[in-house]
Amino acid sequence: MQARVSFMDRSLIGDVRLPTDKSISHRAVIFAAMAEGESQLVGVLDSADVRSTIDAVRALGAHVEVQVSDERGLRLKVTGWGADGPSRPGAPIDCGNSGTTARLIMGVVAGWPISVTLVGDASLSRRPMRRVADPLIAMGAHVELSFEGTMPAEIAGRALRAVEYHSPVASAQVKSAVLLAGLRADGVTTVVEPASSRDHTERMLPGFGVEVTVDEAGRSASVTGLAVLRACDVIVPADPSSAAFLVAGAVLVPGSHVRLPNVAVNPTRLAFARVLQRMGASIELRELPAMGGEPVATIVARHSVALGGVTVSAGEVPSLIDEVPVLAVVATQAAGTTRFEGVGELRVKESDRLQATHDALAALGADVRAGDDWLEVTGPTPLAGCTVASLGDHRLAMAWTIAGLVASGTTSIEGFEAVEVSYPAFAKDLAELGASVEVV
Ligand code: S3P
Repeated sequence: MQARVSFMDRSLIGDVRLPTDKSISHRAVIFAAMAEGESQLVGVLDSADVRSTIDAVRALGAHVEVQVSDERGLRLKVTGWGADGPSRPGAPIDCGNSGTTARLIMGVVAGWPISVTLVGDASLSRRPMRRVADPLIAMGAHVELSFEGTMPAEIAGRALRAVEYHSPVASAQVKSAVLLAGLRADGVTTVVEPASSRDHTERMLPGFGVEVTVDEAGRSASVTGLAVLRACDVIVPADPSSAAFLVAGAVLVPGSHVRLPNVAVNPTRLAFARVLQRMGASIELRELPAMGGEPVATIVARHSVALGGVTVSAGEVPSLIDEVPVLAVVATQAAGTTRFEGVGELRVKESDRLQATHDALAALGADVRAGDDWLEVTGPTPLAGCTVASLGDHRLAMAWTIAGLVASGTTSIEGFEAVEVSYPAFAKDLAELGASVEVV
């Protein structure tokens, strides 16, 4: 599937009801599946990645009933396995493209006496899994990966030991996997990170009856086992990572004014907005009542004339890890150099996002340089429409679409169907704001 985006000689104007948050949706489904009793989940993201999680917990014995499926997402009734634990699945569990599904499920099953094989698509099968296997093995689980440390992953769960794990990477997926395994270990399990990653697990677990202790800097989190989750109802707010694309579009396209209601504005997800504000962008947050333990706001973004380059430090990166490609697009239109430091993790996302961002922006005519773990963009440079590839990566497909709004002529994005992973209605929403996006 290809998307053809035309240079915008009009403005992006309007309100968009964004898709709900992918990270929060995964956790709501997984925690409800682990819990004793029946949870009602409202506004679960209906996308390929979350469908992988729903299928995974069903294969492990949770009962998931889709009660409503509409443009607001899925309303699910989930009856969890509770104290009985998950059952042995009859076949390998296919996690599709979803790293969150694979890594969190590894932690979920590690402490139960069952054997589970996890497989994924070509992209997921290239991504590093030792970062989760190592702490789970240290806790006593048996985990086998390929020689390269990738999936398929075979997990034979058993009684676990509580650990204090110092993770070499700031990764919410690793942190969550270890904390979830820690619920099956007698005593206190702590994860310490080099920088704080998104904290949805820590925010949501208390609703399911599990206390989580977090240090002030948000760099360590602890749970005490053995613990069984209790059912809890969750309402999922809109996804700030999806918001980032429309915010970037509004900031770049002259005359634009876009309002995005009910977005999760958790500080561990919002560094993209802080960086854009530092660049001089007009972005406003209008606070709304919290949802499911998450702060929520309407984000208002407007065209911003005098953008300037900034430095994004390594410490900020975990809080904008999914937004670097689209921030780099904005940087092509900012005066001076924008430098992203410590972005090596981008090389092991759904694609090598560091190389891919360099290559696509260079093809569009930007002044861009990349090193092992840094990226620099100097602007402003006019962009010229050309054909760029998503490489099967949803965030790249959307970032290049935003670039296409300000590139002369037409920009064609190959492999546009990747947007199904997190934002299936992306082209439709952009078109409703006034963009010309043709999907063929
Ligand atoms: C996610 C965490 C991030 C992010 C991914 C979703 C999560 O990955 O890139 O899209 O839901 O925990 P890492 O925590 O591994 O960096």
